[in-house]
Amino acid sequence: MAEFEVRAVAAEEVRALRRALLRPHQEVEELVYAGDDHPETLHLGGFRHGRMVGIATIMFRPMPGRAERAAWQVRGMAVDHGHRGYGLGGLLLRRCLAHAAAGGGRLAWCNARAGSFGFYERHGFRRDGEPFELPDIGPHYRMFLQLEPAPPAGRPSGEE
Ligand SMILES: CC(C)(COP(=O)(O)OP(=O)(O)OC[C@H]1O[C@@H](n2cnc3c(N)ncnc32)[C@H](O)[C@@H]1OP(=O)(O)O)[C@@H](O)C(=O)NCCC(=O)NCCS
Repeated sequence: MAEFEVRAVAAEEVRALRRALLRPHQEVEELVYAGDDHPETLHLGGFRHGRMVGIATIMFRPMPGRAERAAWQVRGMAVDHGHRGYGLGGLLLRRCLAHAAAGGGRLAWCNARAGSFGFYERHGFRRDGEPFELPDIGPHYRMFLQLEPAPPAGRPSGEE
């Protein structure tokens, strides 16, 4: 497997790849999502040889149609074409989910492009409702995953 480094980055740092890989028809200013600058929001960059080749964001945000308040949305998940299939997407997604669980999250959700449905399914997400169309982007599925509570910090494993 290729070696990647995954680390937290600033919101501004993910926007160029957001545009290039996900929304090339939009202006950079349109790639500012509500919640991007919230202190609990996590933006991740995936790097190979020092170059950012993958991005993901997770933010505290209710899931439409669900009463669960501790809900976090995965957004802006993408890996550069030449680096797909080597595990970076999975690394980014798992780090996002761990961040949500550590923040008390009980539900993670996303609007998955039809083409990436299998990626989220592979990570345990299930589909919610019928597919819907996002203008200029195409068909999407709302998907969700129930999160396990994060273990309490600092307690050695195996102890009650
Ligand atoms: C979806 C995406 C982020 C996955 O990144 P990636 O680095 O290729 O994913 P990984 O290599 O970590 O794959 C993890 C697992 O998901 C599977 N998978 C990855 N992409 C998939 C897809 N599009 N459909 C079905 N399964 C997929 C892989 O086969 C792998 O399974 P395995 O562990 O059994 O081998 C990447 O393909 C991408 O950027 N796609 C275009 C943008 C996009 O659709 N983003 C999501 C917006 S909702």
